Amino acid sequence: MLARIYSCSIIGLETAIVEVEVDTGQGLPAMIIVGLPDTAVQESRERVQMAIKNAGMIYPRKRITVNLAPASVKKEGPAYDLPIALAVLVATEQIPQAAFSNSLVVGELSLDGGVRHVRGILPMAAAARQLGFTRMFVPEADAAEAALIPDLEIIPVRTILDLISHVKGENPISPYPQVEISEIQVEVQTDFQEIKGQEHAKRALEIAAAGGHNVLMSGPPGTGKTLLARALPAILPRMTIDEALDVTRIYSIADKLPRDVPLVRSRPFRAPHHTISHAGLVGGGNTPHPGEISLAHRGVLFLDELPEFGMRVLEVLRQPLEDKIVTISRAQGSLTFPANFQLVAAMNPCPCGNYGDPVKACTCSPSTITKYQKRISGPLLDRIDIFIEVPRIDYEKLSDKRQGEPSEVVRNRVEAARQIQRERFKEDGLSCNADMRPAEIRKYCILDETGTNLMRTAMQQFQLSARAYHRILKLARTIADLAGSPNIQTAHLAEALQYRHRNLLN
Ligand SMILES: Nc1ncnc2c1ncn2[C@@H]1O[C@H](COP(=O)(O)OP(=O)(O)O)[C@@H](O)[C@H]1O
Ligand SMILES: [Mg+2]
Repeated sequence: MLARIYSCSIIGLETAIVEVEVDTGQGLPAMIIVGLPDTAVQESRERVQMAIKNAGMIYPRKRITVNLAPASVKKEGPAYDLPIALAVLVATEQIPQAAFSNSLVVGELSLDGGVRHVRGILPMAAAARQLGFTRMFVPEADAAEAALIPDLEIIPVRTILDLISHVKGENPISPYPQVEISEIQVEVQTDFQEIKGQEHAKRALEIAAAGGHNVLMSGPPGTGKTLLARALPAILPRMTIDEALDVTRIYSIADKLPRDVPLVRSRPFRAPHHTISHAGLVGGGNTPHPGEISLAHRGVLFLDELPEFGMRVLEVLRQPLEDKIVTISRAQGSLTFPANFQLVAAMNPCPCGNYGDPVKACTCSPSTITKYQKRISGPLLDRIDIFIEVPRIDYEKLSDKRQGEPSEVVRNRVEAARQIQRERFKEDGLSCNADMRPAEIRKYCILDETGTNLMRTAMQQFQLSARAYHRILKLARTIADLAGSPNIQTAHLAEALQYRHRNLLN
């Protein structure tokens, strides 16, 4: 008989239901797989045959045709092993077709019949539910991840033999209990209160967190730039459940989800090294994987030692910084991954690191310093709203035993400011002040007369560009929101002016 089992393909973040059809006929014993399978799918033949035999079932000595439909969807990876094996058993009437009605099946087989983990289970389960499937057979290792999706019965499968006795009713497998997603807790890696001194930098990071602004820190080595960056996620607003699921989807596809924790609860913090490849940063590869910028989605992308990243690397950040997505072109057509991250960069002010330091002398020539700073491209700087100088601090401050403010307290202020922004942008489709375009800036960043005068003077005195002008207004808006003030007051504007780029191109 013709057997049909439903499975799921995944390319990028896109899922598509795949029908695995198996028919047996006369001819030399062989298995033929048609329907745009890649080499990993072709290799299923061996695994399916061995797994069926080792489960004590009969592998037919017939011509077996496996059709993966629709043929237009490319089938990648080993996740079709289990559905193919089951379809062979249904086609040879060793197990009933009815056991798989309304069901989706995914899983890789090992030769002994074990069912192995596959990546991308969460988006597959979400697709299954959306398309009206009521049950999903998944590798046992992936059951907790699939069970994040409500209203879908998840059957965890350890071996094909277990599954066979389940469908025959001999030894039913109990469905995996649905994973309740309660309130999202933040795991604090680096707490703000561990950072001594640097009040100016901490304040700037609070503003960055409150308005979603990108940040560049500059200062001599050892002043705590890396430490400050690592402390940012703990003051960012907690993720909503939808955001957490959104991030988890990406980690599921990247195969970076910790086995025992199916849901990413903390905002990601990604710190790629400057030697990272293009594909590693933006994503790509034969079976397209998300890059660091997508792994940083809804979290922080930290580029430490920014000038060490090549010009070309920094250039590719342009589109994602603008559009919050990244487009990857490949032979089979382009695909997109989300890449809505907050950029935090750090650099020394010059190659030796001491330029501008009152204590240690800088040994770099002026032309070396200019060349070093020019390594950061203009388009990237355009997307950075806050420039923080992180100076050396003296021993008294560093050895101060008093604790600073814990991250949680700062985060509460940040969340209150974000709430104001959510209300403000209800109809604009934006999520935070950093996303404002000139139209919204005109609408929401209105200055009084004193503010207008201050801004005019600053523009002339510091020779600010139109872009810098917009950046300062957005920041002033965030500072006002942190203060709970409906209007931008002169003090807010004056503070915003402090975070402009001083040495770098404006
Ligand atoms: N303000 C500070 N408070 C507490 N520890 C600090 C501070 N500044 C630096 N440190 C410590 O000094 C070390 C170097 O800091 P780091 O953040 O790597 O500096 P940078 O990135 O500026 O070179 C770290 O181990 C960090 O814990
Ligand atoms: Mg550092």
